Amino acid sequence: MDRITSFGADSLESALGDNRVFTENISSLYQKKEIKMGFDQYHEPPEELSQEMRTFARMITSLIEEAEAIGWYEQRMSLEKDKEAKAIMANAQKEEFKHFGMNLEFLLRRNKNWRTELQSILFTTGDIVKQGEAAEKKVD
Ligand SMILES: [Fe+2]
Repeated sequence: MDRITSFGADSLESALGDNRVFTENISSLYQKKEIKMGFDQYHEPPEELSQEMRTFARMITSLIEEAEAIGWYEQRMSLEKDKEAKAIMANAQKEEFKHFGMNLEFLLRRNKNWRTELQSILFTTGDIVKQGEAAEKKVD
């Protein structure tokens, strides 16, 4: 506060005026959910969440982003006519598989019920819905 008063409140007000209006508009739009901020992965007030929970939330966001990237490459490859370009996209998509897998494993190591359910669903054959229902019973 000393710094502000020595600078002069009037000149500071003038210097910040436009920025303050901009900040208030952004804040208002954010509250009305008209824009998204980089911390949208939090569904609860971040300051009330533990560090572990914030990491969990960030990893969930990463998992979503990796899944989206896999889907985007899949779409691009389905349309791409140039074989060399398509091969590069396929190579890039493999990276996203790895990223998705690492993110998922991280999350499963921190949520026992999720891990238990997926152990009965993933890498199996047969009726997926039946296995999903059986998996759910394991954690009930
Ligand atoms: Fe990735």
